[in-house]
Amino acid sequence: MENNLTSTPHLFSPLTIRSVTLRNRIGVSPMCQYSATDGVANDWHYVHLGSRAVGGAGLVIVEATGVAPEGRITPGCLGLWGEQHIEPLARIAKFVKAHGAVAGIQIAHAGRKASADLPWNGGAHLSAAQGGWETIAPSAIAFGGELTKVPRAMTEAEIVRVQNDFVAAAKRALTAGFEWLELHAAHGYLFNEFLSPLTNQRTDKYGGSFENRTRLLLDTTRAVRKVWPDHLPLAVRISATDWREDGWQIEDSIALAKLLKAEGVDLMDCSSGGVVPDAKITVKPGYQVPFAEKVRHGAGIATATVGFITEPKLADDIVRNGQADVVLLARQMLVDPYWPAHAAKALGHKLTPPNQYARAW
Ligand SMILES: Cc1cc2nc3c(=O)[nH]c(=O)nc-3n(C[C@H](O)[C@H](O)[C@H](O)COP(=O)(O)O)c2cc1C
Repeated sequence: MENNLTSTPHLFSPLTIRSVTLRNRIGVSPMCQYSATDGVANDWHYVHLGSRAVGGAGLVIVEATGVAPEGRITPGCLGLWGEQHIEPLARIAKFVKAHGAVAGIQIAHAGRKASADLPWNGGAHLSAAQGGWETIAPSAIAFGGELTKVPRAMTEAEIVRVQNDFVAAAKRALTAGFEWLELHAAHGYLFNEFLSPLTNQRTDKYGGSFENRTRLLLDTTRAVRKVWPDHLPLAVRISATDWREDGWQIEDSIALAKLLKAEGVDLMDCSSGGVVPDAKITVKPGYQVPFAEKVRHGAGIATATVGFITEPKLADDIVRNGQADVVLLARQMLVDPYWPAHAAKALGHKLTPPNQYARAW
């Protein structure tokens, strides 16, 4: 085991946050599977997540999991709004842990992007006749494109209710055995809709100034941190920029990260975009790494990076260069659940295989 303090960390260095140690810096980014019924996890989620723990990742994060039924992106999304959701997720967390990875979960509310059809059915908003539901958001502005529904602007009572839903979901995640909790404040979902001036046109204490737009996320984080134990890590995924001059900027993200750090957040997971459909984004390998780097150095907090990272050398360089502490992979993990094992080989490290696979790795 290498000592993080005396050698430059690399992709296969362990990382300890609070009392939790990731065996390496590779994480499976949360990915909706659109395969649940009434929010309840099933064998698909078990095999999908379990096999990625077997593949050698240090962290496996369960997809955006709705804190309320109306907070699901689609009818197939996972939920944690009831006791019935705990046991199937507990089975997954136990397996992931038994195979050496830290089991994480992302809790979420999709705001105006909720009530959508499954992506393989086109992903458009669902009407009531198709099983859709009323959406809520900071302001009554539709996303656009296929997501045509105009959400209802939330009352203050609803804002408090959603905050309480996050707290209740965090408690259930703990009961289910997760050791890493991520609040989803990215990709144009509810928290992000409050943060961005493009989607938040409220005139009450939740809109207008930076202080007001960040209020819901900060209040929720504070409340969640009270029930999420001190010895376990808390992360927040943000869209570090809206990719629009009149939108949320990286400087806002750095300022937000400082505030979240003061509330007990351990790691900022830096993604971007998703707030509006017309943002101009130049996507290339590691294109979001500069955001993680700027937040890491600007706010003095651990970061994760994600987005178009497929090459082991790129992932390793990100950690070695101090740009991020954790590298999350999404689509590449769908192509190759054994990416960590393959990356280890390419970079000259040895991963300990599961006993069952010892003759092959
Ligand atoms: C099928 C799929 C589902 C996703 N679901 C989520 C999700 O639940 N929560 C989230 O924050 N991001 C989600 N994302 C975004 C990924 O976590 C990741 O940020 C993005 O795909 C970029 O990483 P990549 O280039 O490695 O795929 C999803 C992406 C894919 C491809």
